[in-house]
Amino acid sequence: MCGIVGYIGDAKKTKQILLEGLLRLEYRGYDSSGIAVLNKSVTNIVKAKGKIAELQKKIGKEKLEGQLGIGHTRWATHGIASEVNAHPHTSGTTSVVHNGIIENYVELKSELKQKGFKFISDTDSEILAHLVESGLENGKSFTESARGAFKKVKGACAVVVITEREPEKLIVLRNFSPVVVGLGENENYIASDIPAIIPYTNRIVYLEDGDMAIVEKNEVTITDLNGTEVKREEVLVSSDPASFEKGGFKHFMLKEIYEQPRSALDTLRGKISGDFSSIELAGINTKQLNKIKKIITLGCGTSYHSCLIGKLLIENLSRIPVEVSIASEFRYSNPIIDQDTLVIVVSQSGETADTSEALLEAKRLGAKTLAITNVFNSKIARESDQVIYTRAGTEIGVASTKAFTTQLLVFYILSNILGKAKGRISEEDISSNVKSLVGVPLLIEKILKLDDQIKALAQKYNNFNNFIFLGRGLNFPIALEGALKLKEISYIHAEGYAAGEMKHGPIALVDENVPVLFIAPKNGANFTKIIGNLREIKARNGLVIFLTTEKGADEYKEYIDDLIEIPNCDYNISPIATIVPLQLFAYHIARIKGTDIDQPRNLAKVVTVE
Ligand code: F6R
Repeated sequence: MCGIVGYIGDAKKTKQILLEGLLRLEYRGYDSSGIAVLNKSVTNIVKAKGKIAELQKKIGKEKLEGQLGIGHTRWATHGIASEVNAHPHTSGTTSVVHNGIIENYVELKSELKQKGFKFISDTDSEILAHLVESGLENGKSFTESARGAFKKVKGACAVVVITEREPEKLIVLRNFSPVVVGLGENENYIASDIPAIIPYTNRIVYLEDGDMAIVEKNEVTITDLNGTEVKREEVLVSSDPASFEKGGFKHFMLKEIYEQPRSALDTLRGKISGDFSSIELAGINTKQLNKIKKIITLGCGTSYHSCLIGKLLIENLSRIPVEVSIASEFRYSNPIIDQDTLVIVVSQSGETADTSEALLEAKRLGAKTLAITNVFNSKIARESDQVIYTRAGTEIGVASTKAFTTQLLVFYILSNILGKAKGRISEEDISSNVKSLVGVPLLIEKILKLDDQIKALAQKYNNFNNFIFLGRGLNFPIALEGALKLKEISYIHAEGYAAGEMKHGPIALVDENVPVLFIAPKNGANFTKIIGNLREIKARNGLVIFLTTEKGADEYKEYIDDLIEIPNCDYNISPIATIVPLQLFAYHIARIKGTDIDQPRNLAKVVTVE
């Protein structure tokens, strides 16, 4: 959701750092963008509707030099996508960029209107500019004015503010919305996301909720909202610059699909013993896990789908009962939790507001918490008692791919650990499961070889307006995930169902215009049942694409219009395998349709509002 970048230092570099930073953050939001550059004590602002390319076009050859600046790429919450609603917002001498939502904006707006401030946008963010300017007009310093404003607003916020009256500093607020300070020599940086500034510095200071940072060229001072100085450690972060390049692929999504063998290997590294005989999770307190009587897994979107699979794996291997919750529902569902409950929160970004709020609620109710996340030191990682990192590498494409398969790997590893802790599985079982796990990178590589076949299928099916995805057991969540991938990047209506549920209603939708995609590995416990469902669809003239393992379709070819055959694999691993062709299918259909695959309409990579 929205991206923020800020810079103070060399006047000649400001424009370039802001624009490059915004380009790297574009995946966070892309309906409009803008920058404000402070040159001595004059602010120059350029804003544009649409992508950063539009902003670049508008800036053209303009020099836009200045000792400091702020930039923003927006995902609309209050007010439509338009130039006037784009950030930075201004009031007199003050300019501001903001991520998040100001919950008490109606009352603050009417207060400010009474004081004579004129609002030109429909955004809640403009309030911040007027609040700071109001303090400055009353003779307060910039720091006092910013602090006063920040104290008044309620809701999740990351804010950067500048003023012509004190043109040698930027002031930053973090309140439940991520923002970091990057340290340089005679220059400093601000970003909502590290990728924006990683080419310039890897010296990062993570702000905590309630922190206000005063960022000058040679100094960064961090205080709480009462003005008391607080110390935050500098952290050296490592990041692979190749993650931010497409590396010869047309889209990040395709690159990330193809990175899955590597991200699987990286995720396994350090979690499997050197002799491949056992599974270990460094830093995870297995004694504590041993006491767990109930587990709740929760997440949003794709991460929620991995939670659904996580439940089945954990219950199978450890017999600990698991409930699954959509993170945005969990918080308001009056969940039953005690100190023997483990809540596992799953989030690629580690910043999703619905998930982090659910995590806080779980902690408040006394649960033990464990995060599965892809982003080091993210909010969710920091708030959880224990963390297991997926090692997918930075995921840029808005449609999650490699993060999902690595989450599934972690769930499988964790299930084995829990199974062992509960005495439900033997060392032999574990070492056979390890064999399956270490085979995953090669398995995915083999499946990627089907790419041309899937591309041809996309040619055949791209004109259909509705799709149904069906699976059972571990592959029912894959039906949901396959349908989600198709919806979000190709804008085609698709539904995922448990195959057995079709006959209870949705089968009424089936005719020759609705392709039905079955996900049915042959060794699935319900394989014969799914063949029954296949016959039911064919009896209603449905078009069938059948995704199965080797020879899985041999006896049923008469019911199948198109077959996708993947190598045989352990059933517990099968969701990691079956999702790959579906990612490719969605990708190729979207490509034919010419949609914006890496930045699909209406979406943002990191959703930091509830
Ligand atoms: C879909 C997708 C989203 C995210 C969801 C949660 O492709 O990417 O559904 O999975 O917004 O995001 P994280 O995992 O960052 O919490």
